[in-house]
Order: sequence, then C-alpha cells, then structure tokens
Amino acid sequence: MYEWVKALHIISVIAWMAGMLYLPRLFVYHCSAPAGSAQSETFKTMERRLLRAIINPAMIATWVFGLWLVWLGGWAFATWFEIKLVLVIAMSGVHGMLSRYVRDFAADQNRHSEKFYRIINEVPTILMIAIVLLAVIKPL
Ligand code: HEM
Repeated sequence: MYEWVKALHIISVIAWMAGMLYLPRLFVYHCSAPAGSAQSETFKTMERRLLRAIINPAMIATWVFGLWLVWLGGWAFATWFEIKLVLVIAMSGVHGMLSRYVRDFAADQNRHSEKFYRIINEVPTILMIAIVLLAVIKPL
C-alpha cells in the first residue's frame, strides 16, 4: 500500500514540476508577443490549458498523496519532513503567483519584464532540488 501511494505521489510531482518549470518559460516568450497579436492569443491558450489541465490537478494530487504518506508513515514530526513542508508551501505560493500572471496575461495586463520571468523560472528549480534531497537523503 505505502509503495503504491509513494509511486502515485512521485507521478503527481513529475506532472506538477513539468508545468511549474515550463509555465514561466512561456511567459518569457509571451513578453515579446504584442498584445492582441495572434501569437499572444496562442500563448494565452497554452498558458490557460497548462495551468488548468496539468498544474492545478497535479498540485492537488501531490498534496493528497504526500499527506497520505505522512499519515501512513508517521512522518509528521520528522525534521526533514518539517523543512520539506515549509519548502513545499513556498512552492505552492509560487504556483499561486504563476496563476496570477496567467490571469494578467489573459487580460493583456502583464506587469513584468522578460528578465523578471527568467529569474522566476529558477525559483521552482531551486525549491525542487532542495525538496528531493530532503525527501530522499533525509539528512536531518
Ligand atoms: C505537497 C506536499 C508534499 C507532502 C506532504 C509530501 C510528503 C512526502 C512523504 C511523507 C514522503 C515519503 C518519504 C519516504 O517514504 O521515505 C514523500 C516522498 C517523496 N516526495 Fe514528497 N511530499 C510533498 C511534495 C513533494 C514535492 C513538491 C516533491 C518534489 C519536488 C516531492 C518529492 C518526493 C520524492 C522524490 C519522494 C520519494 C522519497 C523516497 O522514496 O526516498 N514531494 N513525500
């Protein structure tokens, strides 16, 4: 049972991270498409579908299977897990910011530069590396 839930957790994590790493990259390209152009409308569709069809459901599944593992494995008070929890909450916060940017672009009201999105693109990567090291190595 535990191994099955863990496999489903990892599958969900892969889908969530694929979207979290790709969406800010779409924003970088979207910045150079003039508002109202056909290219900009295509980016809007790609961003909306990626968020609704992949990133949102994958985040929910990651949380459900992750919390299920905490329950089954009694990990709630393990130090590695508590640090991981803080980082996963930060990842969910970045997710919330990205959804906000999708809404801004959809309304042709982007407020940030291409450089800003390039920097934002690195945040989920750094969080992901730290989270995987904590979950696999459990150094604490
Ligand atoms: C959303 C909240 C999350 C919770 C509550 C959670 C909780 C857990 C728990 C309790 C385990 C079991 C550890 C074990 O059996 O050794 C686990 C495994 C794992 N988690 Fe998460 N997790 C979450 C999100 C994430 C995220 C965002 C990532 C990656 C970016 C991630 C990556 C992993 C990996 C790679 C494992 C497998 C570790 C192993 O088998 O050695 N988790 N998670």
